[in-house]
Amino acid sequence: MPNRYKEALDRIAVKFRKTAETAAEAGIIPYQSAGGKWIASPYDGNSWWTGGFWPGLMWELWKLTGDDFFLQEARRVEKLLTEEFRRFRRLNHDVGFMYLLSCGADAKLTGDEQAETDLLHAASLLMGRFNPAGFIRAWNEPERTGYAIIDCMMNLSLLYRASRDTGDPRFRQVAKIHADRTQQEFLRADGSVSHIIEFDPENGKRIREHAGQGYSLGSQWSRGQAWGLYGFALAFRHLKDPEYLETAKRIAANFTKHIRADGLTDCDFCQPEDVFRLDNIAGAIAACGLQELTMLTGDEAWKRHAERLVDGMLEHCADWGEEHCGILTHCTASYHDDGAGRHSNITYGDYFLVEALMKLCNLDPELWS
Ligand code: GLY
Repeated sequence: MPNRYKEALDRIAVKFRKTAETAAEAGIIPYQSAGGKWIASPYDGNSWWTGGFWPGLMWELWKLTGDDFFLQEARRVEKLLTEEFRRFRRLNHDVGFMYLLSCGADAKLTGDEQAETDLLHAASLLMGRFNPAGFIRAWNEPERTGYAIIDCMMNLSLLYRASRDTGDPRFRQVAKIHADRTQQEFLRADGSVSHIIEFDPENGKRIREHAGQGYSLGSQWSRGQAWGLYGFALAFRHLKDPEYLETAKRIAANFTKHIRADGLTDCDFCQPEDVFRLDNIAGAIAACGLQELTMLTGDEAWKRHAERLVDGMLEHCADWGEEHCGILTHCTASYHDDGAGRHSNITYGDYFLVEALMKLCNLDPELWS
């Protein structure tokens, strides 16, 4: 029987083999497909947090096809990203997303030594954001010294990797302190998670929750739920604390309750019923996290939910035409602010859709590990 997921991957590889050439010609890090071409991120140039997803996507496709075009394109952008080390003050906790999927993937898949050195450089930058009052600082604005965000659970993967590669436990010790604090402060009784918590940077006491990219304060921004789900599953995998697994399962149970009948994902699980606002990126991330849960627990039910999500995206929101460069449609960067994309293609949606498909085909190179 033909494998529909492998067929989808093969079609995606064919499309990207063509459209990625135009990104290389333009010399940009693609953020979004719009008006028939790839465009760069609207903010912060090559320091914007999403820059690693394009090379990550290229490495996944290289693993799938063996076509060295994808390797070269991944390395073109890896070089642009490592140049950003010089603009240190623009970088934030998202060095995990940026460098794990670029240098980290390169070092993992090819053994390139400079890529490994750059990966350790990035891990040291993330370590430098640790506040000994008990959390990793998210952003750089002076008024946000004490902000931590749920997304950072994914960036911790850079620290697990650095400890493993160097034999130095400090990276994973810091990751554990941050994960414990996130578990204590972000997880709610219903299994949902907050997006942003502000701590007192002097003593680590909780000050307040802030509304972030979701509908409102106290609501459930779906991408934040997905970061928490996948992030705690990875924390269990690397730090082995069974409480993280329980947390990942609770977040997953809440997330899967909210998957729409068509398999797509609302931007916020508390958004008004009469609003049609999807964020398929959240569904794609969750489809990866749910498969990680099946891998960790042996419970296939999580994987069935991942299939519902992937099937929904392939059926309703995959753009196979030639008119646009990317694949996944209806990606939304933020509920209220449409500056970074609303119901558009965004490359990290494509990245996670491909990672989810690679997992479903047992081909995934496991770039978070
Ligand atoms: N990490 C930022 C976001 O998910 O939009």
